[in-house]
Amino acid sequence: MTQSITLRQPDDWHLHLRDGAMLHAVLPETARHFARAIIMPNLVPPVVTAAHARAYHDRIVAALPDGTRFTPLMTLYLTEDTDPDDVAAAHASGLVHAVKLYPAGATTNSASGVSNFDTVRPVLDRMAEIGLPLCVHGEVTDPEIDIFDREAVFIDHVLDPIRRATPGLRVIMEHITTRDAVDYARAQDDTLGATITTHHLVINRNHILAGGIKPHYYCLPVAKREEHRLALRAAATSGEARFFLGTDSAPHTDDNKLQPCGCAGCFTATNTMSILAQVFEDDGALDQLERFSALNGPTFYKLPPNDATITLTKTGATYPAHIDTPDGPVTVFDPGFDLNWAVT
Ligand code: DOR
Ligand code: ZN
Repeated sequence: MTQSITLRQPDDWHLHLRDGAMLHAVLPETARHFARAIIMPNLVPPVVTAAHARAYHDRIVAALPDGTRFTPLMTLYLTEDTDPDDVAAAHASGLVHAVKLYPAGATTNSASGVSNFDTVRPVLDRMAEIGLPLCVHGEVTDPEIDIFDREAVFIDHVLDPIRRATPGLRVIMEHITTRDAVDYARAQDDTLGATITTHHLVINRNHILAGGIKPHYYCLPVAKREEHRLALRAAATSGEARFFLGTDSAPHTDDNKLQPCGCAGCFTATNTMSILAQVFEDDGALDQLERFSALNGPTFYKLPPNDATITLTKTGATYPAHIDTPDGPVTVFDPGFDLNWAVT
């Protein structure tokens, strides 16, 4: 029986680090295991220009614990006022690795996102020209659409039309949660990638709602039926190049989670690699963990894989229930099963 596995050091292709005291508290959790991460720009105010991204990059680097090597890969928040020249310059300088599309109102701090997708056409055309990927939060915001259908409707009504109108645009379907998204992704050419979170491999909607409401399992897109979770597991463990890890680790203090209207987000930075090793082992696919967490992402982003390695051993893993921050504790995602694999 396998007792130890060594992988190229993983990267996280979708991460929320926030800012200020929260950034200082959560950054070490990611930097302990991951070499790089795509940093989400949904701060208040959002990271919309190259200048904002440069300043945020520098705050992240300054917040790293001494001696830690970690590279933040910056993104820009797409608004209806985004300037294609600013985006192109930010990409050319090597600072910005993707642009993030939030449909306005879809999730945390998305108010400055896009309502009329025609307004961003010049930016998308320029991105297609220069090969800069678009990270997409794929949910419609129409209140008439059931929240469990918002991803599937987005694919048909928004994503596919955008891709048809902008040939060559490289797109990442982020944090996919449905069989529909897996099927759509598989039917496309190699301009399309898809990230899958740790928590969506573990929970379905019953985990959130059955037997009492579990605010720490509430995130967006919300977890769906079991059949969808199983489709995500099959995609992640398949080794297929278009599927890779984006944890969407999204810290909120317990105060902000445990409210009559609580925030969306699961904080998985601390124990993601142990959970993934368990998931992949349970599915008889430990040999695909490196592809999912360390190889497929760099290939899509046209970056080299990391030279360093990490080793996981089957010695049992423990993790803190909370990360302390000056604003209050942030609860670490509890997968609901014991973790056998420790990062050593
Ligand atoms: O659950 C989520 N939390 N989904 C998102 O899209 C945003 C994120 C956050 O920023 O908290
Ligand atoms: Zn996110």
